[in-house]
Amino acid sequence: MKAVPLNAALGARIEGLDRADATRPEVAAFLNRALGEHLLVVVPGAPMTAPEMRDFSTAFGTPRAQLLRYKRNGEVPEVSTMVSTIMADGTTDKTALRSEDWHTDDSYMAVPAKATLLHSMEIPSHGGRTWFCNMHTVYEALPEATRKRIDGRRAMHAYDTARARNRPSPRTPQEIAETPDVEHPLVRTHPDTGRKALYLNFNRLDRIVGLERAESDDLLDELAAEARKPRHHFGHEWTVGDCVIWDNRATMHRVDVDYPVGERRIMQRVLIEGDKPF
Ligand SMILES: [Fe+2]
Repeated sequence: MKAVPLNAALGARIEGLDRADATRPEVAAFLNRALGEHLLVVVPGAPMTAPEMRDFSTAFGTPRAQLLRYKRNGEVPEVSTMVSTIMADGTTDKTALRSEDWHTDDSYMAVPAKATLLHSMEIPSHGGRTWFCNMHTVYEALPEATRKRIDGRRAMHAYDTARARNRPSPRTPQEIAETPDVEHPLVRTHPDTGRKALYLNFNRLDRIVGLERAESDDLLDELAAEARKPRHHFGHEWTVGDCVIWDNRATMHRVDVDYPVGERRIMQRVLIEGDKPF
């Protein structure tokens, strides 16, 4: 079994792994080391059922059910079914559209997910690439003066913000009650490696605490401009059965909604419990 680095800003491909062995302690330790080092691992294989995927995901920690109930698998609530097929009328699921811009999963939670597993069940004939951004290298590429301005700063994340390009899925009253605005550090430290990462989310990050709106917007725009540079990115082209696991503590991701109308695009997703960012 080995982790073969991708020729990109982040990511490695795991070769020689039987997914049924992933929860053996030494295999799980290897996978988590690879995740910390490369921030993303691709584990190719056959499509998994929802119970199989939940069991596989425990190699990375404790799976947890996602906020939006309508996506949860009926039998296995920790597994979500993400349908992003573009319908004949040109529409698709709200969260799929929302995923078009850079984000990290669950930053509207006080304790966001450590990692996400995304597993392709059905994919269109072309398009639909998922892109990932290395937030360690984004932070390190900032001018010294900018790093000084943001170190120690905190930022408000909201379920929705006027800064986002698209609106999110509607929430039920219960889901609204579960998602008050939360504050996180703007620069966070990876708990496993000690490396600093810029903690941005273009869909949720509303403002920097303690700054006037205009100044906050300008600074967030400046940080976003660095994160949008292709040299920090890797684009994954899906094959059916791929399982991609990424570290939400030091990456963002987005999807190209550029695939043919009517061709089914169905993924299963699992979120792994994280720690409070620091
Ligand atoms: Fe996402």
